[in-house]
Amino acid sequence: MAAKELPGGTFTMADGVTVTRMGYGAMQLAGPGVFGPPKDRDAAVAVLREAVELGINHIDTSDFYGPHVTNHIIREALHPYPEELRIVTKVGASRDAQGGWPHARSPEQLRQAVHDNLNNLGLEALDVVNLRMGGFDSPEPGSIAEQFTALAELQQEGLIRHLGVSTVSADQVAEAQSIAPVVCVQNFYNIANRADDALIDSLAAQGVAYVPYFPLGGFTPLQSGTLESLAADRSTTPMAIALAWLLHRSPNILLIPGTSSVAHLHENVSAATLKLSEDELGTLDGIAEGLE
Ligand SMILES: NC(=O)c1ccc[n+]([C@@H]2O[C@H](COP(=O)([O-])OP(=O)(O)OC[C@H]3O[C@@H](n4cnc5c(N)ncnc54)[C@H](OP(=O)(O)O)[C@@H]3O)[C@@H](O)[C@H]2O)c1
Repeated sequence: MAAKELPGGTFTMADGVTVTRMGYGAMQLAGPGVFGPPKDRDAAVAVLREAVELGINHIDTSDFYGPHVTNHIIREALHPYPEELRIVTKVGASRDAQGGWPHARSPEQLRQAVHDNLNNLGLEALDVVNLRMGGFDSPEPGSIAEQFTALAELQQEGLIRHLGVSTVSADQVAEAQSIAPVVCVQNFYNIANRADDALIDSLAAQGVAYVPYFPLGGFTPLQSGTLESLAADRSTTPMAIALAWLLHRSPNILLIPGTSSVAHLHENVSAATLKLSEDELGTLDGIAEGLE
């Protein structure tokens, strides 16, 4: 299936980077805690191949998933990559021996991470690299200029085509934009966690993509009676409704739900076919407002 036929349509982040709004997040392909190898490597390979077969051309990854494991699996499953595939990665953390996620944000560490992504994915240049700042799921105040400048230099060298930022505030997005163009912002956001509502609208006005992580709640899956009852009415699942709500929320929102299961992948892609009515959207808005 050609990318443009995938339900949900496409979004152009930058010249040469037109992606399906329904993408795929590869973090779930590593072992438990995103550490070490998966229990079933063949199943992980199968999920990636099925995602591409369905028409998804936006895969989100990082070399610190595993570490290295997820990128190795992407390479095994998909290399040589289809021409239309865009792999988006992120830098700014590493892994310690216990599976922790220490920051790795010095210019030298960022350069090393870019080279690790290139080597492990088998690429000569990375389509999009997000600078991962902040804490576990929310921004921390302070300048990101030193780190973003380091990535802009790697872009100038031709190792990175486009830049994004992750786990950042609106001020930090603006600071990055004063250094080099930003094609996407990847932050924590879903139907129940809407701190970024104003940022999403401002990025939409600028034509910048907003890519929510934990769209299904991440390590704490979304649970809501409203989602369940609407899903029952529409003969679908709460997760599909949560993803459909994100697609309706703003045209610059791109989805990268993570799954290690082909069945869940199909369920998530089906979300893009769901048209929600104004009444349904109003009911769903109540989840964030605590009115359910
Ligand atoms: N920038 C950042 O700092 C950052 C942080 C976190 C994540 N990310 C990116 O964002 C992507 C999405 O986040 P995420 O994977 O952590 O969280 P998520 O997409 O919100 O949720 C993933 C979890 O939901 C389950 N799941 C997926 N589809 C399901 C379905 N249809 N029904 C029931 N359960 C389902 C998965 O389990 P199964 O495997 O069993 O399906 C997994 O446990 C990641 O893959 C990663 O690429 C970025």
